Amino acid sequence: MQGVSMSQRPYHIDVMISAKAIAARIEDLARLIRDEYKDTDKLVVVGLLRGSFVFIADLVRELEMNVEVDFLEASSYGNATESSREVKILKDLRGAIEGRDVLVVEDIVDTGHTLTAVLELLRSRHPRKLETIALLDKPARREVPLKATWTGFEIPDAFVVGYGIDFAQANRNLPYIGTVVFDDEGTAEASA
Ligand code: IMP
Repeated sequence: MQGVSMSQRPYHIDVMISAKAIAARIEDLARLIRDEYKDTDKLVVVGLLRGSFVFIADLVRELEMNVEVDFLEASSYGNATESSREVKILKDLRGAIEGRDVLVVEDIVDTGHTLTAVLELLRSRHPRKLETIALLDKPARREVPLKATWTGFEIPDAFVVGYGIDFAQANRNLPYIGTVVFDDEGTAEASA
């Protein structure tokens, strides 16, 4: 018999980081980025699809500087809660970055494999400056040494959703970051 896939198990979501806390943190991060790139004519902001689409939308509106937005998609998770180690580039940038100032925007740094592979690829194109920002960081899960230039929130080893981040392609549109709690594990009561 085939087992029930993870996404078919009943679960609920507990709020971990509220929409208000995210917005406040983004204002702080935008100030730091503006300062770091104060001499930059036009910043190329590269969002890693699909998880960073909400974060990048809010971040660029706080930046108050000249930006160009581009996207890159690298494979990581399937429909399960374990990260695969193999990173494939599924969609490349539209624009050239040679000699440009670039900021890579990631939703979560987990094992670190995705961002490491993406940075290696982008470095090979010789940008003038290449920095990274991750909304979330799970340092306990790291398999390769890596730290984003700026991090929104360090979180414990939990599977999170919302604010662009999915579980089996669901929950990306939640305005907050929440943890997935499987009801049959009995770790928490469903929130009201
Ligand atoms: P890494 O290569 O293990 O660092 O994985 C990074 C990618 O895995 C992120 O960009 C997410 O797309 C995905 N990911 C990592 N942790 C979570 C999670 O808790 N929920 C949903 N996706 C996650």
